[in-house]
Amino acid sequence: MSPRTQVDVPTELAASHRKYFGDRGRGWVAALPELAADCLDRWGLRPDGPPMCGAVALVLPVLRTDGSPAVLKLQPVDEETCGEPIALRTWDGNGAVRLLEHDPDSGAMLLERLNADRSLAAVGDDLAAVQILSELLARLCTVPAPAELRHLADIAADMLDRVPSALTLLTDPSGRRLVEDCAGAVRELLTEPGDRLLHWDLHFYNVLAPHPSDQREPWLAIDPKPLAGDPGFELLPALHNRWDEVVASGDVSRAVRRRFDLMTEVLGLERQRALGWTLGRVLQNVLWDIENGDVTVHSGPDGTIVRALLGSS
Ligand SMILES: Nc1ncnc2c1ncn2[C@@H]1O[C@H](COP(=O)(O)OP(=O)(O)O)[C@@H](O)[C@H]1O
Ligand SMILES: [Mg+2]
Repeated sequence: MSPRTQVDVPTELAASHRKYFGDRGRGWVAALPELAADCLDRWGLRPDGPPMCGAVALVLPVLRTDGSPAVLKLQPVDEETCGEPIALRTWDGNGAVRLLEHDPDSGAMLLERLNADRSLAAVGDDLAAVQILSELLARLCTVPAPAELRHLADIAADMLDRVPSALTLLTDPSGRRLVEDCAGAVRELLTEPGDRLLHWDLHFYNVLAPHPSDQREPWLAIDPKPLAGDPGFELLPALHNRWDEVVASGDVSRAVRRRFDLMTEVLGLERQRALGWTLGRVLQNVLWDIENGDVTVHSGPDGTIVRALLGSS
């Protein structure tokens, strides 16, 4: 019998799991080398380069038995991650990375290998990157969501339930106004949550160029945390990305509105509805921050984006 491959867990991945998931994260990381070795055996894979990771997933470059490149992606199965294989299977390689194998018990996925060294963060001009991301989103969001995914209607209702207690923690009037504006916008849209397949996490680092061996599309989405809903809920990550370039433009409000206008135009979205769901997405971030003890939520990019889009200063 050949010896089992020893997979080293990157220290930053272990630290991130300790920070975000505590003891549960520690336990998952401790079992990770064994899980990785099991998957390599089961799918006949050979490691082919150093492990990669994001905040949550371990991603191992591998070769399959036929010599083709792929990556093994391992992450805990939870409410956010369990939809990834469902979405990737639904898109079936159209605008998104292909799912080659999936183990529902461990959540392990074998994915088509893309070019990890070239994401949209590397495209010279930030508006050109926003244009590419919008065109990709327009394609991904034309697909109706499969029934088993979580729904924006439920996420929105849950957010509104949490607003009153969040407001009791905010003493600063601008923070309270931000939460009230966002909650008001979501309340108006609650009966029209949409039914498209949303990626939810399409920021510049989650759009990669293909692997040199298969240039089937110029750019492909990875890492969805999918849900069913209105495409307006997808815009905020690309408004945040490369924020230093928004600031360096010298007119932050104008730069935010240019990105928003570009995205709504390419996606063919009704501006008011897209604005409402963007405020909804800000509310999701802000509630998360407040519940984690941050009561200065209005001072970051989210507050600036909302003011720019509502035309207030
Ligand atoms: N299919 C792939 N091909 C090549 N590299 C990948 C692939 N999927 C992920 N990666 C690399 O691994 C990193 C983390 O993967 P990702 O799916 O984004 O997980 P996380 O949820 O932790 O952000 C990516 O930023 C990218 O560098
Ligand atoms: Mg990622």
